[in-house]
Amino acid sequence: MTAQLIDGIQLSQHLRTEVKLRAAALTAQGKTAGLAVILVGENPASQVYVRNKVKACEDCGIYSILDKQPADLSEAALLDRISALNADPKIHGILVQLPLPAHIDTHKVLEAIALEKDVDGFHITNAGLLMTGQPLFRPCTPYGVMKMLESIDYPLRGAHAVVVGASNIVGKPQAMLLLQAGATVTICNSKTRDLGLHTRMADVLVVATGKRNLVTADMVKPGAVVLDVGMNRDDAGKLCGDVDFAATKEVAAYITPVPGGVGPMTITMLLVNTIEAAERI
Ligand code: GUN
Repeated sequence: MTAQLIDGIQLSQHLRTEVKLRAAALTAQGKTAGLAVILVGENPASQVYVRNKVKACEDCGIYSILDKQPADLSEAALLDRISALNADPKIHGILVQLPLPAHIDTHKVLEAIALEKDVDGFHITNAGLLMTGQPLFRPCTPYGVMKMLESIDYPLRGAHAVVVGASNIVGKPQAMLLLQAGATVTICNSKTRDLGLHTRMADVLVVATGKRNLVTADMVKPGAVVLDVGMNRDDAGKLCGDVDFAATKEVAAYITPVPGGVGPMTITMLLVNTIEAAERI
């Protein structure tokens, strides 16, 4: 069996067409949606991510600013900047690209973002709202994964979903969204003993660890849906995920490629969240 690909580029294009229409409708009402992206320091991967986020806004008719700050920016100065953006009526969404330099307390920064502008959904209150089933914003990557499952009409109710990775950005919110959709959820982490024992039980397997080839074909149940959130480089410098794609696509029923899978969906869901924020204000 060869798995069907879940194409994140194609699905993104479809969803972004809707974003463009909603953005245009807001602009027609004199309320252009606006996103501020803050990047502190020069992490090369982060630089690429923020550039792509700002470019996607431009393509969809969303106003955006990229606020690049030096790596030695003080925590107080960053908090002041967020406070100004919280009060800026042109800005409906604020995103602070992570990771932040070590001298800055990430929790303090995320909690300084106004709840109604927290388009990443990382504020502790938004995490709590998600956990209790009343999300204001769904974190972009897990939200994108849910849209991919929706695109294949996957019946999550009663299914066993296994999430490998327990970060605040992906693994934990992913587990909450799957649970909310009626799945039985197992969360594994980097220390899980006999990882394959868990992953082989998965009807839906989401892998988000940043470890190339962590999941091999023998760890996947035949007919499973595999969603690969990993973004790594192979020995030749090519982008690859956390799953051994070539072998696993012969076992799974559906699989997301890297690149062209979950990555574009993350940015698309950021656009969706920004539009929602602007429509609410
Ligand atoms: N770093 C890696 N992923 C993300 C994300 O979704 N949002 C932000 N702000 N930083 C990230």
